[in-house]
Amino acid sequence: MCGIVGFTGRDQAKDILVEGLRRMEYRGYDSAGVALEAAGADGAARLDVIRRVGKVSGLASELEGYAGQATCGIGHTRWATHGRPSTANAHPHTSCDGRIAVVHNGIVENFAELREELQGRGHVFKSDTDTEVLAHLVEEAYAERGELMAAVRDAVSQVVGAYGLAVVCADEPGVVAVARKDSPIVIGVGEKGSYVASDVIALIDATRDVVVLEDDQFARLSPGGVEYTDAEGRPIEPAVTHVDWDLDMAEKGGYPDFMLKEIHEQPRVVRDTLVGRMTATGELDIDELGLSLEELNDIDRVYVIACGTSYHAGLIAKNLIEGWARIPCEVEAASEFRYRDAIITPSTLVVAVSQSGETADTLAAIRDARIKGAKVFGITNVVGSPVARESDGVIYTKANKEIAVASTKSFIGQVVSLTLLALLLAQVKYRLTTKQARMLFRELGDSAAQIQEILDGCGPAVREAAAACKDARSALFVGRGMGAAIACEGALKLKEVSYLHAEAYAAGEMKHGPIALIEPGFPVIAVATKSPTYDKTVSNLMECRARGAVVVAVATEGDDEIKKIADHVIYIPRIRDCFSPITASVPLQLLAREVALMRGCDVDQPRNLAKSVTVE
Ligand code: AGP
Repeated sequence: MCGIVGFTGRDQAKDILVEGLRRMEYRGYDSAGVALEAAGADGAARLDVIRRVGKVSGLASELEGYAGQATCGIGHTRWATHGRPSTANAHPHTSCDGRIAVVHNGIVENFAELREELQGRGHVFKSDTDTEVLAHLVEEAYAERGELMAAVRDAVSQVVGAYGLAVVCADEPGVVAVARKDSPIVIGVGEKGSYVASDVIALIDATRDVVVLEDDQFARLSPGGVEYTDAEGRPIEPAVTHVDWDLDMAEKGGYPDFMLKEIHEQPRVVRDTLVGRMTATGELDIDELGLSLEELNDIDRVYVIACGTSYHAGLIAKNLIEGWARIPCEVEAASEFRYRDAIITPSTLVVAVSQSGETADTLAAIRDARIKGAKVFGITNVVGSPVARESDGVIYTKANKEIAVASTKSFIGQVVSLTLLALLLAQVKYRLTTKQARMLFRELGDSAAQIQEILDGCGPAVREAAAACKDARSALFVGRGMGAAIACEGALKLKEVSYLHAEAYAAGEMKHGPIALIEPGFPVIAVATKSPTYDKTVSNLMECRARGAVVVAVATEGDDEIKKIADHVIYIPRIRDCFSPITASVPLQLLAREVALMRGCDVDQPRNLAKSVTVE
């Protein structure tokens, strides 16, 4: 998630902006910049834009030499989603004449069309970002309207997507124009002037009385205060919220820990990962595909290689790639793949899945595969990461920075991205029609709302199930088909944050050994959503229950039968089985977190673990 700050008032803006950006560093970023409104030698206002790749401290050093007297400005920390980390892609972005500057948080879904239209009208673009179209749209509207707030309103009315936006204009000194849709914006007035930010943590030193701007609301900040308007420009009086969070709570957006915050970001991750990924005619649009459709059509074997949670995303991809595209797909731990002499030909596609994009084993496996002639495709959350750079093509999971060591939102982003890849392979292999792909793509997008429904409603059932598991010495996670892959991820989540031993088994394997573990009180956590193998799973659970197991089931809403077998049921909305990992994983993430809290564990920084394993 990018960070936005803005200030206009009676004090020097640059230090206020830098401190605000510093407060948001925890969100993760790869570049930073400011636009400062200063008076030129002739007294006319100008915008000084200073941007750089790297840390805010580097930007601050560069600003130490800044001699301008600027009491108005905007600043930004960028987590790259479109366009690699570079100075040219860093915000603020400016209009052709440099008189308008914008900072933006969100995604302009229709930026390609807008960019083409703007270029057709003579606008010259200086970056690869989606955001830059906003600077040129405001420039055009300002030329017509002559007033910044009205120009911003006109500009965003052409945008499809999400934006938290702050704009300054050298021809309207002292004004910061702000717009919001689907990306957070908070505004406050302090002793020194008026402030805007994408995160309350950047404001709370100046004021704890803030306005949380709502969708399609606008604000015009000036040194004397703030005017709020609606999409039609009519004055509004938004509510003021008093924030009593300390800095730690503010960093977590009011959640008690990053893990819960990131679990709750998953609906947005689904939507952001899908943004712009299908054309109006139903073709998948993977902007950094890197491989031709002919090369993809030539693929006759897929290896998905990854570690940990990313490996579990691969297990899900296997079912999709083989089911839809009918291409043999193997999933392997990167640490194993890299040391065996896998069968690789130029028609082999190696898909490397890595949140960090820097896991040593995964990188080594990619390099080995390339030497052997494979095509390599990366699924990663970090733009410009080694996995992204060393792959022929890449899909970014758009999860923004994931701070908790336990992967949650990035896992969902991986599953969605791998689903897109499977759909693409199936289309290329003529195994799915455009109509079928479009239907599946739409249902995939619907999972975002279903995750939200689960987050809103499953708390009590999760806490009840957690209480039943917390004192166990071990737990078994079982499922079939997609449920088996989900069970693997559920087991990893539980053990890595609660230190309670857990392992996952295909439910059909229980009779081949694991059922020997079952004794009264032993927790068996089942993915028992409606699927072609549901009845078989229920039979397995009956065998466990008959031996005294405590059965926790993730089940499909409306399924009453499961209540006869399970001691605790966590219901989720009905969904096509192939998409069930996206929704059924969420209760298991919450269950793991709840058990960990009950066991007094640090859910964000579990013992012995690192967020990325850059050594073997
Ligand atoms: C999962 O919760 C862990 N954080 C860990 O298993 C992780 O998935 C694994 O280390 C792979 O990391 P990567 O996705 O950054 O390559």
